[in-house]
Amino acid sequence: MTMKTLLILFVAPFLLASLAHAEAPVCSVTDEEHDPALREMIYNIGGGEQSTYVYVEPDIASFYRGQPPASTKVAPKHRGFSAKFINASNRRLALYWVEPGGKKHLMREHAPFTASGTASFPGHTFVFTPPNQPDEVIHTFVVKDYPDNIQLYDPYFVPGDAIQTQQNLATLNDAERQKYQQWRDTINFHEQYLAFTGRSYLANYLREPPRHFMWRADYFGQEHWVTTQETRFVAEPPSELLNPIAAGKDRQLVEPLMKEYREPGVFNMTLKTLSCAPRAFEIPHFLSDAEVEHILKLAQGIDLKLSSTGDVNAGEKVVTEDTRRTRTSFNSWVERERSPIVDAIYRRAADLLRIDESLMRYRDANEHPELPTRKSVAESLQLVHYAHAQEYTAHHDFGFSRIEDDYQGARFATLLLYLNEGMVGGETSFPRWVNAETFLPLNVKPEKGKAVLFYSQLPDGNLDDFSHHAALPVTEGEKWLMNLWVWDPIYE
Ligand SMILES: *[C@@H]1O[C@H](CO)[C@@H](O)[C@H](O)[C@H]1NC(C)=O
Ligand SMILES: *[C@@H]1O[C@H](CO)[C@@H](O)[C@H](O)[C@H]1NC(C)=O
Repeated sequence: MTMKTLLILFVAPFLLASLAHAEAPVCSVTDEEHDPALREMIYNIGGGEQSTYVYVEPDIASFYRGQPPASTKVAPKHRGFSAKFINASNRRLALYWVEPGGKKHLMREHAPFTASGTASFPGHTFVFTPPNQPDEVIHTFVVKDYPDNIQLYDPYFVPGDAIQTQQNLATLNDAERQKYQQWRDTINFHEQYLAFTGRSYLANYLREPPRHFMWRADYFGQEHWVTTQETRFVAEPPSELLNPIAAGKDRQLVEPLMKEYREPGVFNMTLKTLSCAPRAFEIPHFLSDAEVEHILKLAQGIDLKLSSTGDVNAGEKVVTEDTRRTRTSFNSWVERERSPIVDAIYRRAADLLRIDESLMRYRDANEHPELPTRKSVAESLQLVHYAHAQEYTAHHDFGFSRIEDDYQGARFATLLLYLNEGMVGGETSFPRWVNAETFLPLNVKPEKGKAVLFYSQLPDGNLDDFSHHAALPVTEGEKWLMNLWVWDPIYE
């Protein structure tokens, strides 16, 4: 990392935090305190001792405010977890999943020195082969059990033989050797992080803590309140007022639009803690009935396509032929500019997350000129429809960054917005929530207008393996929802 990027990385958190503060509504009391889950860790990856703050999961008793139903956490029934495959070699490789019967399924191709990941299970077998030569196995991985998430292919390192290792590395050019060293640093750090925290380091060494504000989830049922002037629409305005809105300077609103169609005053949103690890909250009545009707009306004019998966991995995007189809829903995208109501939903979501709304759209040159990009940290709304028997099996929303990417942008927060209720099944399921009650998943029932917020990152910048979640099959009726994803950091 150059000095310049380091500087940006260090300055940015304070900068964004103070920006968010200037605009953010008042909320509950504890959020400015030092997060007690962050502990100082001294580590050495060669070149001397260094220190950083890492996330150590608090004692289970604290999740129950000292009154847990049992003294230990329950091992979840669901044993799947994120397997991260690292190709620390200078060859292009293909990654296949090998079925127990031996049939191979191409997951993706890896460019040299890249990583990718997938939700996997103990005992699953994957192989690296040359591209298009599935029978020429170069390396075999057998996935172990949590927390052994990291699967490394390193053809150069010879344990206990520094000379041979040096000779092997001498075959690489300077750029290749630099990337190789970054992977070794990542593995070294990961081993010390694992010993200290009990978790694998799923990011690359060293990922900065999130720039965005993060709500604390100290105990079950903990509530936070946040007010927004982006109140809910109680009636849909006439259609001539609902045309797409233009990008540009009129986006810098002082007053909410079309107040006469909305609830008066401010909207006091409640976040209720459903899970402490991963951090997950529900926000009842985040959307009004009129807003839900508006979205569903928009949906009628949109052609939904069979959902794809896995295209957030930074290996190379060749996710094809994965015949274990894990996502059977149909989806489409609704841009923030699609209507003033959708824009208002983004502004409300920004207040909920305590992120400046302008970061969640393309900005004018005079908005945050200090930032190196005008890109949005938010994706378009993903509108999803699940018909009978459709589901999305347990997965993560984050992807893995290239080793040379100093910023390691990744999905940070997911806001799920339910658009209907009354179906059987269709719950949002967190199979690995940490608790002292049950080995079964935490299942959240869809309710019209309710939102669920969860984070895919930990407060120390690592990716949260426990953010594993699924959309359970709909067994009666249908399900409509929207996903709003926010990235961290803002740069790429
Ligand atoms: C591993 O990296 C080498 C070179 O770095 C590359 O040729 C190969 O495709 C990569 N394989 C995977 C699976 O990443
Ligand atoms: C929001 O609601 C909570 C719970 O009713 C209340 O304690 C809090 O004072 C309210 N905040 C505002 C700003 O009205």
